[in-house]
Amino acid sequence: MAQRPDYQDRCAEEGKRFLSHGSSSADLDSLTMIRGTLLESMRLIPPVWMQGRQAVQDCEMPDASIRRGDLVYMPQFLLHRDPRFFEHPDDFLPERWTGSFERGLHQFAYYPFGGGPRICIAEEFAMAEMRIALAHFLAQWRFQVDSSEMPALNPFITLRPKNGLKLRISRREGPNYKEV
Ligand code: HEM
Repeated sequence: MAQRPDYQDRCAEEGKRFLSHGSSSADLDSLTMIRGTLLESMRLIPPVWMQGRQAVQDCEMPDASIRRGDLVYMPQFLLHRDPRFFEHPDDFLPERWTGSFERGLHQFAYYPFGGGPRICIAEEFAMAEMRIALAHFLAQWRFQVDSSEMPALNPFITLRPKNGLKLRISRREGPNYKEV
């Protein structure tokens, strides 16, 4: 987001409108561009970048035979960039989430919160929390990074920037400017 002032401006407008009229939970649905940027960010840099399971029984799949006890890994980081499911897979295109595209998407082509019986119990909560936080942040502040490159990543349990992420933060209105 910090690399894309164009999307930040559009999200800031949405955030200002949201904050100006009470911001009930029903109003969250109006944050379509903020939601799109969040989903697109988690597509390209999924916080949970890979999940694993151990097979409890043998299982035949079209391209693989899985034996009881085998470990099976399901990397969000790869599937989320698979051109079979996403046009221009490496591009940041939040608009892809604002139309009907999502309805036709395979359930396990995009799964930042996992899936099946152990899906994240807080998916709805996290999506609400992130939309509200972004509405507040972007309505008031601009975020900039010096580089347009993808930051080096550290694939630990969750995916995070290897060397931190330095942001320049400035108020949208007024002269107050601060570097962190
Ligand atoms: C962007 C935010 C979040 C992401 C991307 C995320 C992602 C995930 C994923 C992928 C799993 C499945 C792990 C697996 O199957 O092995 C999971 C499980 C879980 N998450 Fe989240 N999560 C998020 C936020 C949260 C929050 C805010 C909470 C709690 C308030 C939470 C609580 C849990 C719990 C308790 C489980 C385990 C569910 C189970 O095993 O039955 N998550 N999460």
